Amino acid sequence: MQLSHFGKKFSSGAGILTLMDDLGKAIVHGSGQYMLGGGNPAHIPEVQRYFREQMRLTLDNDKDFELAIGNYTSPQGHGDFVRTLAELLKDQYHWNVGPENIALTNGSQSAFFYLFNMFAGHFEDGSFRKILFPMAPEYIGYADLGLEEGIFMAEKPQIEFIGKNVFKYHVDFDRLEIADDVGAICVSRPTNPTGNVITDEELSRLSALAEKHNIPLIIDNAYGTPFPNIIFTEATPMWNENIILSMSLSKLGLPGTRTGIVVARREVIDAVSSMNAVFNLSPGSMGAMIAGEMIRDGQIIDISKNIIKPYYYEKSRRAFDLLEGYLKGLDFFIHKPEGALFLWLWIPDLPITSQELYMRLKERGVIVVSGHYFFPGLDSEWRHRNECLRISFSQNDEVVKAGLKIIADELKKVCRGN
Ligand SMILES: Cc1ncc(COP(=O)(O)O)c(C=O)c1O
Repeated sequence: MQLSHFGKKFSSGAGILTLMDDLGKAIVHGSGQYMLGGGNPAHIPEVQRYFREQMRLTLDNDKDFELAIGNYTSPQGHGDFVRTLAELLKDQYHWNVGPENIALTNGSQSAFFYLFNMFAGHFEDGSFRKILFPMAPEYIGYADLGLEEGIFMAEKPQIEFIGKNVFKYHVDFDRLEIADDVGAICVSRPTNPTGNVITDEELSRLSALAEKHNIPLIIDNAYGTPFPNIIFTEATPMWNENIILSMSLSKLGLPGTRTGIVVARREVIDAVSSMNAVFNLSPGSMGAMIAGEMIRDGQIIDISKNIIKPYYYEKSRRAFDLLEGYLKGLDFFIHKPEGALFLWLWIPDLPITSQELYMRLKERGVIVVSGHYFFPGLDSEWRHRNECLRISFSQNDEVVKAGLKIIADELKKVCRGN
């Protein structure tokens, strides 16, 4: 069977596909009994009960269920949901958004496919533009989304050391250059894989830079505020006409409904809707149906703040304390856990690569993700990228604890030359 460039590119097993496949196989073959690898959100009983109740109410209502499953929505997505979300954002944050500023997609992953290829690649004027990640490491899921090769560029971060074993990445504004070939800037906040939350000041500076260069700033808010609000530090949500804010219902607990949300100026929303029509006819509406009421009455903000955020904050604290304790005696740093579902562990001068460490851990039943995957667009050599692991703490506490213990044990062997 001969495949086109497109066919080869998107089925060649690069990057995220290999990783997801490997994670999946590890579960099926039982080698991953300590699954600290995936980005799946936890099943939080209180939140799940709420969604079950919403589903029950929909089923009990005379027409709601039939309407939700029996109709395509417009390419922009479920009208009621879009309208009420616009009202919520306007009320809460005084953003100048209306329904014309919001579109739904089948998961935010697909929104990134649209957005990156809208703002990077070949342009009519002959130029070739790229998406700039101002602070590597960044989300691995971006790496393979380009229709054209070479559409990403990234900058190394500045590293701040905080206490004995903690560090934090910052955008290195001294190094950051917005050249003519940058088509858009993109940053995840909180960042997958590090749990970093770039500060309000950093975000404002990025926004100002983007505006100055007349390019959009894309903020990936998959874990961010106001929902699901998996943020353990101070962070103000930000939007303006030059910002494209990507949100998602996945980490709220609805990854199976595949609901992404794009908030942007009208032309961007029209383009996203148009791409929805071409690729999907219309986005799915189950997520909008299940979460519709919580948007209408604003409970999405309370549930995020009072249930989801503390749930992950506690898990993050416990995982951090355990890992720090288990690793005593080694040279190590953990990124300051400010949000998302992960600890980012850095072992300076790790004697093997993080990928080799991943393989050794897999042999012992622990699945993590090697850090080297998380530097899409960073061309320069940097040893650091082979010295880090992403460890998810969203699994139940016993699994996390046992997994962390094995990670520390294996690291001690590696660092002592065994
Ligand atoms: C930073 C980030 N952005 C986007 C996504 C995509 O999520 P979804 O397509 O489920 O909305 C993920 C998923 O893990 C993520 O971690």
